[in-house]
Amino acid sequence: MLTPENLYDKARETADHLLDLTDEIPVYGIVLGSGLGSLAEDIEIDVEIPYKNIPNFPVSTVEGHKGSLIFGTLGGKYVMAMNGRFHYYEGYSMYEVTFPERVMKLMGINKLIVSNASGGVNPHFRIGDVMIITDHINFFPEHPLRGKNDPRFGPRFVNMSEPYSLKMIETAENYAKSKGISYRKGVYLGLQGPTFETLAEYKMVRTIGADAVGMSTVPEVIVAKHMDMEVFGISVITDLGDEEFIKNVNHEEVIKAAKTAEPVVRDLVKNLVRLY
Ligand code: HPA
Repeated sequence: MLTPENLYDKARETADHLLDLTDEIPVYGIVLGSGLGSLAEDIEIDVEIPYKNIPNFPVSTVEGHKGSLIFGTLGGKYVMAMNGRFHYYEGYSMYEVTFPERVMKLMGINKLIVSNASGGVNPHFRIGDVMIITDHINFFPEHPLRGKNDPRFGPRFVNMSEPYSLKMIETAENYAKSKGISYRKGVYLGLQGPTFETLAEYKMVRTIGADAVGMSTVPEVIVAKHMDMEVFGISVITDLGDEEFIKNVNHEEVIKAAKTAEPVVRDLVKNLVRLY
């Protein structure tokens, strides 16, 4: 079991194990969200390791659970991509959900890209829109930094003034504009799921200042900021939390909509890695 007391040693052990299997220290860590796994096809793969073969990685209790770490070259840089993430709603502890980011940092990675699917609550948004995440609201019932702080990772009280790197956002925006790629920008609110929101909850999400809502990302970004990593977040709006669309919200629709936006996300991520 991962605890605040053993987290550093466990992450160190896993990081050393992975560094032994790879040729280079990756520059970027990339988390591929729901329906965005084909981004892995853009990576010239050096090594692919199933999660079940990685020491200390969370073990799935769900039959048929897949997921792997991919090491290889993307946009001319060596990267480590997570094909599949650990969600809090699956029953993992917050230390498990964010363990891969701990390992990334101890491997020497300082830049993180996170992607996800989310429900749009901004009335201007449409299904299939791609949103660059500018900020987040943490609505998870448990904080990933709760418990004894290990100063080898970072400080007890973490500054969250720039959770998403302004320079990375600018680089991605400049690239998108130069190619005529349309995108949105907005605030992502993370909550635990696994239910989608009620209409009243979607309205609440909008009222408190978010543009999109999802069940991941926020814990990972908090932990990355604890370790002073630079983070870029991108979200595909896969459904809309309003009277008209709420009846259609289900997992199949989410995956289908994420797939339609996949080429745009792939292009943006690849070129951000190349340029920044
Ligand atoms: N709500 C929460 N999580 C989601 C949604 C949503 O509408 N769409 C995709 N992930």
